[in-house]
Amino acid sequence: MLVNLKTMLSNIDKKAVGSFNIYSYETIHGVCKAVESTKKPAIISFGASYLKNMSFSTVKYIVDEATKNIDVDVALHLDHCGDMDIIKAAIDAGFTSVMYDGSALPFDDNVKNSRAIANMAHSKGVSVEAELGSLALGEYSNETDIDHGQAYTDPENAAEFVNMTGVDALAVSIGTVHGMYKAKPNIRVDILKNIKQNVSIPLVLHGGSGTPEEKIIECIQNGIKKINVNTEISQYTVKKIAEQIYNDPNTHLSKLTLLQSDFVSSVVEKYIKLFSCEN
Ligand code: 13P
Repeated sequence: MLVNLKTMLSNIDKKAVGSFNIYSYETIHGVCKAVESTKKPAIISFGASYLKNMSFSTVKYIVDEATKNIDVDVALHLDHCGDMDIIKAAIDAGFTSVMYDGSALPFDDNVKNSRAIANMAHSKGVSVEAELGSLALGEYSNETDIDHGQAYTDPENAAEFVNMTGVDALAVSIGTVHGMYKAKPNIRVDILKNIKQNVSIPLVLHGGSGTPEEKIIECIQNGIKKINVNTEISQYTVKKIAEQIYNDPNTHLSKLTLLQSDFVSSVVEKYIKLFSCEN
């Protein structure tokens, strides 16, 4: 059942929902298989950089088909986007939430644009995630030197930002990176705790791939309700497909597409279970 992000996140307590990037029919089915087998909600997340793979309406059509018999909440989300026209196109196609990413802009511009997107999206029942602070890329991550491209979220700015924009969820920067880590990450749960004291809307953690499990649990205990995972799903799936082709170079393409969904599903299932904090 398709719901918006606000509804989905307000239905959960002391756990987080995984947001998994998809780029194809097979990756959508991989996420939906994991939702079906765990019977737990998930967010299907599509980035505008993958519009060359599929249009918004194609994604919406496949998601509708794949979820019509699943009796669990699923949200269809536009990941990082700074372009108002593209955000509008995703909303028009039926996405149930969008992320406006103005994190590279000066604070006032980020506020102004996030508020405009929130007003527009809310009038159509669509939820909005915005971002304050910015994540480094994995290639620069290092326990002692994580400053390349990284700007931690300022807890006081976060409160002001949320009050002024009316967004439904806030992505924060506390030391995770986009991509795999090169060294042990330094996740600043202390900053997260300060943000949580100032902000009452759900907080979002980007850069989930490879983040130590105990840190993920600590983040969930301190206000993170949505966690994004992309790189690990892709790397695991490509590795397993490469193994399959190495072992059987004559594997039929039709079998590879089915295997692809299975490989995606196994990583997604691992994260859905971890984020549900039931063990
Ligand atoms: P990873 O690729 O590091 O998992 O990050 C995904 C993400 O944050 C997508 O917005």
